[in-house]
Amino acid sequence: MDRPCETALSRRDVLIAGAASVAAVAAPMSADAASPPSPPAAAPSAEAISTLKVSFTVNGQARTLDVDTRTTLLDALREHLHLTGTKKGCDHGQCGACTAIVDGRRINTCLSLLAMHEGAQVTTIEGLGTPDRLHPMQAAFVKHDGYQCGYCTPGQICSAVAVLEELRAGIPSHVSADLTARPLLSELELRERMSGNICRCGAYSNIVEAITEVAGRPA
Ligand code: FES
Ligand code: FES
Repeated sequence: MDRPCETALSRRDVLIAGAASVAAVAAPMSADAASPPSPPAAAPSAEAISTLKVSFTVNGQARTLDVDTRTTLLDALREHLHLTGTKKGCDHGQCGACTAIVDGRRINTCLSLLAMHEGAQVTTIEGLGTPDRLHPMQAAFVKHDGYQCGYCTPGQICSAVAVLEELRAGIPSHVSADLTARPLLSELELRERMSGNICRCGAYSNIVEAITEVAGRPA
C-alpha cells in the first residue's frame, strides 16, 4: 500500500530536479542578456585603405587614377572617368554589358581590377565612334535594329568588333570543326562567340545580321 506514496515522491523529486537544471542553464543566458552589447566594428580608417596609382590609355587619352586597389576597371571607367557607355548589368561576369576592348581583346570589365591594367590600351564604346562618325559596327546595329532598350548594346558592339578580329586572327571557338583551319564566318560561329553577351530584349537575330554585314558578307 506504500508503493503509490513512494512513486508520488519520486515523481516530485524528478520535477524539482528538472526545474533546478532549467534554472541552471537559464542563469548564464540572463547574465549575457544583461551585459551591454558589444560596439559595432569600426570602419577602416582612410590610412588603412590601400590605394594604387595606375596609368593607362582610354580611347587614345592618357589617364592616371589613384584609387582603392579593389576598384574594378568597370568602376574606374564609369565612376572615376565618367565614361558611362560601358554598362553595369550583373557585375558578376554573366551578362557582357560591361564588355570593353583591352589591348585588342574583349573582356568583362566588372571582373577585372584596374590594378591589373597598368599601361593598357582600353577602348570603350565612346572610343569606337561618335554620333557624327559612327563605327561601321555601330552603323550596322542601327541599320539592322540590333537593339531595343539599348542597355546591352555598347557591350554587344565592343564584343562584335573584337569577334571579327578573333576570326581574322584565326582563333577557333567551341564550335569550330577544325581547330587548325581558319574559322568560318558562319551564323553558328557568330552566335557562339557572342554568347557571353546577353540581350534581354532578344535582338539576337538582328545582331547577327549586323555583324555579318560588317564582316563583308550579305546579311
Ligand atoms: Fe560585367 Fe555583367 S556587368 S558581365
Ligand atoms: Fe535591351 Fe539588349 S537591347 S537588353
